[in-house]
Amino acid sequence: MSVRVGIVGCGGISHAHVHRGYRTLREKGLGDFVLRAVCDVDVRRAEALADYIVSELGCDRPRVFADPAALVASGEVEAVDCCTAVFAHHTVALAALEAGLGVTVEKPFAVTVRAGRLMVETAARTGAVLAISENVHFEPRQRIASWVMEQGRIGTPEVIVMGGTGADVWFPDKIVAETPWRHQRLLAGAGAVLDLGSHSFDTLRTLGGEVAQVSALTRQLLPERVRRGHEGQVLERVPSEVDDVALLLLTFANGAIGMFGTGWGGHGRPTGFVGGLGIQGSTGSLQHTPKGQVLTWDDGRTEIAAELFEREADPALREGWFPQGVTEGFALELHFFLRAVANRTQPENDGLQGLRNIAVSYAAIEASLLGRAVTLEEILESRISAYQDPLDRHWGLLP
Ligand SMILES: NC(=O)c1ccc[n+]([C@@H]2O[C@H](COP(=O)([O-])OP(=O)(O)OC[C@H]3O[C@@H](n4cnc5c(N)ncnc54)[C@H](O)[C@@H]3O)[C@@H](O)[C@H]2O)c1
Repeated sequence: MSVRVGIVGCGGISHAHVHRGYRTLREKGLGDFVLRAVCDVDVRRAEALADYIVSELGCDRPRVFADPAALVASGEVEAVDCCTAVFAHHTVALAALEAGLGVTVEKPFAVTVRAGRLMVETAARTGAVLAISENVHFEPRQRIASWVMEQGRIGTPEVIVMGGTGADVWFPDKIVAETPWRHQRLLAGAGAVLDLGSHSFDTLRTLGGEVAQVSALTRQLLPERVRRGHEGQVLERVPSEVDDVALLLLTFANGAIGMFGTGWGGHGRPTGFVGGLGIQGSTGSLQHTPKGQVLTWDDGRTEIAAELFEREADPALREGWFPQGVTEGFALELHFFLRAVANRTQPENDGLQGLRNIAVSYAAIEASLLGRAVTLEEILESRISAYQDPLDRHWGLLP
């Protein structure tokens, strides 16, 4: 039986879910789903996405809703693909989970740790599937690096460095993704350390193991962000209320240590670690290079990780990770979610993974505010939450 899906939130990323996600699955013969509904509080966006789905998938036009609660109550769908702005993730997810529908939520998982924990607890209580749409987790680069680490090819992780102060694409002061809400604290939760960081913390946790402790400095460098026209003229200005840059020192539960930076604006150009990621293990290293992920051992031997994987990984593992040869992260995140809904199983990318990713983001922010290192436990249990308290108060999440 095809899983009946409704997409809630019909902005930028929903189009990537349709084009890079659902369309890829259909083309590769993994199309055991039907897109039955779309929903956005801005109904014109929902109408546009419905048209786009018809043009991309050649299927019947999905039903259009302007209210997520009406979509849930309609009985049209058994799975919700939540692509809303961050502040709405928990309200959409909670309504769907309470009705027993499976839900996958775009990163970052939730606007605060309390919001995310409530989602995870609700899924556990209702038995509904809850997943995080984290495309990076399923992409070949991360999967292959995780295979290298799991196989102990460079020993156990000792030192991990990743990131920098941002990417050229948003420098010096662009409105990120042309979405002003990303710079508003109540709507976005936080800035780069949550929006971009949550991707990277999935990578760091997958390759380095669980994060135990974080010390960090976060800064808001710019008072406002702008959108410019082709001639450079300013078309829109929005005040910025969130971090533009974050630098973290991490301790992993296995004793490894890490250094990480992220950001999305400042002056001039971004700066960062060469290659973006390097791991030193107890017997060798893994580094991102323009040639791919390079493994190096003390005797001078080197290997390209992807070539080693191709040669030596179990074919069943390769087919499991990349069914029908699919390597597109958006397609894979949705595939594993839809399979979990169909089979009533827990997906690998379950809600707890999403929660743990944002807990590292909020550990950085709370540590910076507090001026001391914080443990992940303190953050996951909301024993430290000074930055998040006003957000939780606003969204009615304080006990
Ligand atoms: N995986 C990635 O690489 C990636 C890339 C971009 C965005 N994202 C994530 O996708 C999500 C959406 O980002 P975007 O760039 O598409 O934003 P967007 O602003 O373009 O789209 C969000 C949409 O949600 C709608 N919305 C807001 N509240 C709603 C509600 N209560 N019910 C229904 N619809 C509602 C808005 O009207 C808007 O159309 C964010 O969580 C973002 O972090 C992920």
